[in-house]
Amino acid sequence: MAFKKYEPIDFKKVRPQLWEMDGISARTMDEHIKLYLGYVAKYNEGMELLERMPEEFYEKANPTLSHLRAIKVDITRAIGGTKNHELYFGHLGGEGGKPEGKLLEQIEKDFGSYDRFYKELRATAMAARGWAWVAYDYDFKRLMIAIGDEQNIYPIWNAQLILGIDVFEHAFFMDYGTAKGKYLDAFFANLDWKVVEENFEKALKRDVE
Ligand SMILES: [Fe+2]
Repeated sequence: MAFKKYEPIDFKKVRPQLWEMDGISARTMDEHIKLYLGYVAKYNEGMELLERMPEEFYEKANPTLSHLRAIKVDITRAIGGTKNHELYFGHLGGEGGKPEGKLLEQIEKDFGSYDRFYKELRATAMAARGWAWVAYDYDFKRLMIAIGDEQNIYPIWNAQLILGIDVFEHAFFMDYGTAKGKYLDAFFANLDWKVVEENFEKALKRDVE
C-alpha cells in the first residue's frame, strides 16, 4: 500500500481567465488559490497519516477524543475544500447570462422558472456561511439547492455537485468588504454556464438504476 499524492489543478495554466475577471480581482484569486493548495496539501497529509497509523491508535479509537477520530473528522474539511474549490474555479471566468439546453429544462421542471431558481440560489448564498451548492440528486431525480456552512457541512448524499458559490469572506472581502450581495452579482456576471451545463450532463451520465 502506498498512497499516491493528489496533484492540485494548475488553474493559472488551465483557466487563466480567472485572473482577468471584472468584479473579482486577480489579487483575490491569487490568495484564494493559495487556500485551495492548502486544502490539497492537508488532504495528502491526512491520507498519509491514516496509511501510516500505528495499530495502537486503532486500539485507542474513541468517540470523545482519539487520533483516529481527529484525522477522520478533519480530513473531510480538506476533501471538501479541495472539491468545492475545483468546482468553483472551474466554472468562473465566463460571461454570465443564463443556462441553456437540458440544464435550463431541468431548472424549469424543478423550480418552475429560471427566475425562481436564481432567487432561491442567491438567497441561499446570502444565508450561507461558506457555500451555496446546486446538486443533481440521483434518488429524487432533481436539482437541489443546498447550503454549506463549512467545506464539509450539510452535504446531500448521492448527489453530484454541478455549481458552487464560495461565500466565505476570503472570496470577496478584499474586493467588497462586507458587501456580500455585490460579490454575488460579480459571481453571477462571471459564471460560465457552459461549464455548469457540462457538469450537469456528466452528472446525468453517471445516473444508473
Ligand atoms: Fe474559498
